[in-house]
Amino acid sequence: MPNKKPMSRDDLTVLEGYHSPQFEVPVKLNTNESPFPLPKNFKKEFNSEIKKLDLNRYPQREANELCISIAEKESLNINQVFAANGSNEIIQSIFLAFGGNGRSVLIFEPTYAMHSQIAKITGTRVIKGSRESNFEVNKDEALKLIEEESPDIVFLCSPNNPTGNLESEGLVNSIRSKLDESGGLLVLDQAYEDFAEEPSTLTVDEKSNLIFVRTFSKVWSLAGIRLGYVLAPEWCINEIRNVSLPYHLDSVKQKAGVLALKHETEMLLRVKEIKEEKNRVYELLKSLPVDIWPSEANFLLFRPKGIDGYKLWGDLLNEGILLRDCSSWENLEGCLRVTIGTPNENTKFLERLREILG
Ligand SMILES: Cc1ncc(COP(=O)(O)O)c(C=O)c1O
Repeated sequence: MPNKKPMSRDDLTVLEGYHSPQFEVPVKLNTNESPFPLPKNFKKEFNSEIKKLDLNRYPQREANELCISIAEKESLNINQVFAANGSNEIIQSIFLAFGGNGRSVLIFEPTYAMHSQIAKITGTRVIKGSRESNFEVNKDEALKLIEEESPDIVFLCSPNNPTGNLESEGLVNSIRSKLDESGGLLVLDQAYEDFAEEPSTLTVDEKSNLIFVRTFSKVWSLAGIRLGYVLAPEWCINEIRNVSLPYHLDSVKQKAGVLALKHETEMLLRVKEIKEEKNRVYELLKSLPVDIWPSEANFLLFRPKGIDGYKLWGDLLNEGILLRDCSSWENLEGCLRVTIGTPNENTKFLERLREILG
């Protein structure tokens, strides 16, 4: 330790950090990853492509091959796509470019914890909007807050983590046009978009302030690779590029992303399987003493009755089943979130839960 320890920024000392505990347990249902390993041929193709990479050279700076593949899938042009190390890095880049000191973001809790966490790390003031009892964003209040506060950024998450509800396109469009008056950016985090019953019809428009954040971590079985992207008008992608580090995306993950997109058919089959399992788990949870909410994502939020949520989380952990403890989150008192796993994992979870709840 130096004589006088260098101190980090004063405004960082109030942050608790983001911790989803990582325990080695047999049934991991806490981080909304895909329960399935990579598709059969993927690993083979991946291994052979990796051997061909010149790892002594820097990667393609603009990740052209990957961005072209994403742009083709989304019917966009390559300048409307930017990829980074997980969608968390995309969110960070958005805050670096459009947030920061003297700027503000409107966020509707409860939602993905990193939205407000990254806001605070980048010195962006957080304005909190509220949700209805079914967890949809309270539209009238949202429009009023935009009118009064002129936030530089608004974050929506649809399907929302951890509540699983979709935001209507009507709501997204109302917020988008209200923000248009004040020059704010609307970010739609679509990490779980592929699990929704109806795909969104919203898309990138050069004249719009609406941008879309996506990830390879969920349906693509690539959480370990750390790859995400943003779809946005060219003017916005240019701003995000300006704050990114040179060669930020390594050659290995660029290749993994390109290969993954060639396995879309398998991915869609897995999504179908997860959705079917989610419906089964939902119905079985409904027969237990819990409050449960419908979900358009690969997880379910529930609140046990007659037992403290945190106690139940610990009891399940003792049985080797790890869930996400949301019991102390704002407006989610006593709630837990369970990721949909393999049929076997889900059954183990339901059996233990039934035993504990009696
Ligand atoms: C809504 C939402 N956005 C973004 C992320 C981050 O994903 P990534 O693994 O791409 O950083 C998550 C991860 O759980 C999430 O739930």
